[in-house]
Amino acid sequence: MSSSLATMAYIGATILFILSLGGLSNPETARRGNLFGMVGMAIAVLATVLGPRVTAAGVPWIVGALVVGGAIGVIAAKKVQMTQMPELVALMHSLVGLAACLVGFASYVDTSTVFATGAEKAIHEVEIYVGILIGAVTFSGSIVAFGKLSGKIGGKPLLLPGRHLLNLVGLLVVVYFGWAFVQAHDIPAGMLPLLVMTVIALLFGIHMVMAIGGADMPVVVSMLNSYSGWAAAATGFMLSNDLLIVVGALVGSSGAILSYIMCRAMNRNFISVIAGGFGGGAPAPAAAGGAAQPQGEVSPILAAETAELLRESKSVIIVPGYGMAVAQAQHTVYEITKLLREKGVNVRFGIHPVAGRMPGHMNVLLAEAKVPYDIVLEMDEINEDFPGTDVTMVIGANDIVNPAAQDDPTSPIAGMPVLEVWKAKTSIVMKRSMASGYAGVDNPLFYKENNRMLFGDAKKMLDEVLMALKA
Ligand code: TAP
Repeated sequence: MSSSLATMAYIGATILFILSLGGLSNPETARRGNLFGMVGMAIAVLATVLGPRVTAAGVPWIVGALVVGGAIGVIAAKKVQMTQMPELVALMHSLVGLAACLVGFASYVDTSTVFATGAEKAIHEVEIYVGILIGAVTFSGSIVAFGKLSGKIGGKPLLLPGRHLLNLVGLLVVVYFGWAFVQAHDIPAGMLPLLVMTVIALLFGIHMVMAIGGADMPVVVSMLNSYSGWAAAATGFMLSNDLLIVVGALVGSSGAILSYIMCRAMNRNFISVIAGGFGGGAPAPAAAGGAAQPQGEVSPILAAETAELLRESKSVIIVPGYGMAVAQAQHTVYEITKLLREKGVNVRFGIHPVAGRMPGHMNVLLAEAKVPYDIVLEMDEINEDFPGTDVTMVIGANDIVNPAAQDDPTSPIAGMPVLEVWKAKTSIVMKRSMASGYAGVDNPLFYKENNRMLFGDAKKMLDEVLMALKA
């Protein structure tokens, strides 16, 4: 393939990636967006492999790597549960970071590139240095995020004494060694500053994510998404690959926007989250789910009584959360919705921006169950409607409906906007026990006078509700 044809293919792929991102911004167009992304990626890979920079001798290596990588990808995609997606995404971000580091070191020791001027050489070295720096932070930070999201590492923030000073000293050392690296005359002399910087960047990545509390993990997921984009862009600079630069910048900036949206959804200041220490007191995700201290009496309800309440309602709002994903109850939820709508009940869904364990988690599940998009509303669109609602059904959600976020300034989730389900005539919370949610805080909603608890696995309980509704 000639270089002009490869450039044309790259431009086509870039356009498809932009259309893909645009499509992903809306559930109705997300499927098409995914398709654009896949076609764009296929074109990009083909144009690179068949392009002028790959020799015939290199093709078998690339094909071998594609087969191995593709097989691992297919197996992982088939095996991973929807609830484990954030962990998988964190692991994938770590691979982008690792790739940026490896490409950086390979570019440095590669002597085949001849630079016309000293300035060109210096620019290339700065690209390598910055690329490895971003890559190493992304790599180690993503590994720790994977550990935290899967409950292998505690969610409590690690707050080292003088941690900001520590970070600042690390930054100064990195800047100093950057200067030493560019000044170095040969590869062995430049290797030491490069290695020292890599170690500091790895430690910084670990420290940065360890310092972030469990309740703020959604921001970390999107932030590392952004970092992985910048790491890919840095790799693009090192390899002089325009497509990688553009795609990396797209991922980097969309991840940054997502982080901002997440922060706004949780009423957090982005800088404070990154500086660490928020979400304090939040236990590990594995520990969250431990029994919270009871704070009063709760009123249980049976599935048949729930069905009765729903049948008599004029308007119902369903608030799904992480538990619906665990129970895989979305299809039964839709069956119930369909039945109630046929009976003339106005059924709508209220989606919190951080419901579940990844951005858009609930939207994906509801779309999979074929719930019509026009009855799935964002928190801001529906929060004012709770007072006029007969029944709210909270299905496996906890933190996102916790009134303590508004009433208790000492709560780890204080200030986070929540769905005000308690303002409806009756709220019904479906969960298996009195255990707390991800943030590990007790939920005063359970003890409110107009709240009922439907204890049990969400799928099993909803099946019973559906049966009672059909009877
Ligand atoms: P959570 O607050 O985690 O609550 C989920 C509840 O579901 C738990 O209290 C659990 O109670 C219940 N549950 C679990 N399995 C169940 C099952 N099989 N049947 C019925 N109930 C079940 O979830 P949420 O309200 O969706 O809030 C999300 C939380 O995750 C927030 O704190 C958010 O910050 C955090 N987070 C979000 C993201 C993103 S980007 N969305 C990423 C990381 C973290 P039982 O054990 O008693 O059943």
